[in-house]
Amino acid sequence: MNKIYFLGSLIVTLFCMQPIQAQNSQANIQVKPTDDAPIISKHIYGHFAEHLGRSIYDGFYVGKESTIPNTDGVRNDLIEALKAIKIPNLRWPGGCFADTYHWMDGIGAQEDRPAIVNTWWGGVTEDNSFGTHNFLNLCEALGTEPYLAGNVGSGTVKELSDWVQYVNHNGTSPMADLRRENGRENPWEVTYWGVGNEMWGCGGNMTPEYYANLYRQYATFMSAWDNKAGLYRIASGANGSDYNWTEVLMKNIPKNLLEGVALHHYSVIDWNNKGSDVAFTEEQYFTTMKSALFMDELINKHVAIMDKYDPQNEIDLIVDEWGGWYEVQEGTNPGFLYQQNTMRDAMIAGASLNIFNNHSNRVKMANLAQTVNVLQAVALTKGDQMILTPTYYVLKMYTVHHDATLLPIELKTPDYTLNGDKLPAISASASKDAAGKTHISLVNIDAKKENMVTVDLSKLNIKDFTATILSSDKLQDHNSFDNPNKIQPKSFNDFKFKKGVLEIKIPAFSIVVLEGN
Ligand code: AHR
Repeated sequence: MNKIYFLGSLIVTLFCMQPIQAQNSQANIQVKPTDDAPIISKHIYGHFAEHLGRSIYDGFYVGKESTIPNTDGVRNDLIEALKAIKIPNLRWPGGCFADTYHWMDGIGAQEDRPAIVNTWWGGVTEDNSFGTHNFLNLCEALGTEPYLAGNVGSGTVKELSDWVQYVNHNGTSPMADLRRENGRENPWEVTYWGVGNEMWGCGGNMTPEYYANLYRQYATFMSAWDNKAGLYRIASGANGSDYNWTEVLMKNIPKNLLEGVALHHYSVIDWNNKGSDVAFTEEQYFTTMKSALFMDELINKHVAIMDKYDPQNEIDLIVDEWGGWYEVQEGTNPGFLYQQNTMRDAMIAGASLNIFNNHSNRVKMANLAQTVNVLQAVALTKGDQMILTPTYYVLKMYTVHHDATLLPIELKTPDYTLNGDKLPAISASASKDAAGKTHISLVNIDAKKENMVTVDLSKLNIKDFTATILSSDKLQDHNSFDNPNKIQPKSFNDFKFKKGVLEIKIPAFSIVVLEGN
């Protein structure tokens, strides 16, 4: 090649590339406090534990006789770990299992409890040793709100209304008396109730019209009894983008019977080929993140329908199942949904929680699927060992947003590009807590590039910042039983704060949470 031509074209190339690169790696956030900003409900940081695989048995519950330190059969290390992330609520007993579950099978003397087959998850024997008392006492030990999912698919109206009476009635009644006979004097006062789960699928393959009618019937017979907070009834919601489902429910269920409408969305590459949990390519990572970020569009569209029927914003959107879903770990039962948890999961968690925070005027609860040993778990157990996953640490870093006031933001972000496709590289949310501290959570999902983010905070009176980062060398990195502390949050100071403007470099696939005082 001619030298002059080469140099010339090099200069042209460099000249053309420079501004694009600069533009490409610069995100800009304007924080815009308003007087009417919503509170970010702590319930957005909720969890979910189903009778599935090693979630309850061998996850939470090891039994009182276990050598693993436990409280009433529930492992102490897990209780402590969940308390440390201020677990606000726990959904139980399913999932699909909920619509096969008959709660009376799980109360009273163990020898009288029937052993059943868990038909949804691995066909294993369910001996019902973990039942209503175990779960609600666990919630008390955790200091968390229980969220009970009622059986509509194969149960009856009486069965569900009796369950409510059993856990919420203080006076004399058949169910309150039975509870006392079983050793519990005071009701637990359960507020959150799911009226069936995935009624379009495992809950009974219903049409939305049929379910809306059934919902009205079930909800009518659910009385609050002595629960001073009243009942919060959640209708089984849409499968992802089934907007018609939300439309029919909102149109046909009277407001006095409904407090929340659910939505389920998993970050999945392809339901027929979900890919490995740890040995994934960048292409697979990109597709997973595309699916995770789709949550924003889903919420916008479902909320638009809710706005039409409920302009006063009285009914909430409850994303009671979300998270990454991959093929199970090799050698494990396919029905147990056991998967490892990598930096990819941390990216899903950070970006999804930012989405929920930014929609906190309508999204009042979300439940990560699932707490331990199933799907995007925060903890994994093996015998007496327990490890905490990158997702756990994201939830820990984000506790600062619990019940804080949202600071609305305007975000301009560079793209994360791969094979001609693109995604927004940066996601963010901000809040101010009761003590007046400002928190900003920033996620850079780009697999290769660090990104510079400038945040204009001139409207807030902040003097200084501290920051924490979650990052690792490889996207596939994870904590293992051999190396349980490989990924943990660390303090971070690669930022400048001058005249109300923060400039911060976010490394590739990392999460930074800043605290401004
Ligand atoms: O979380 C696993 C399963 O996913 C739940 O049981 C069901 O509701 C959903 O399809």
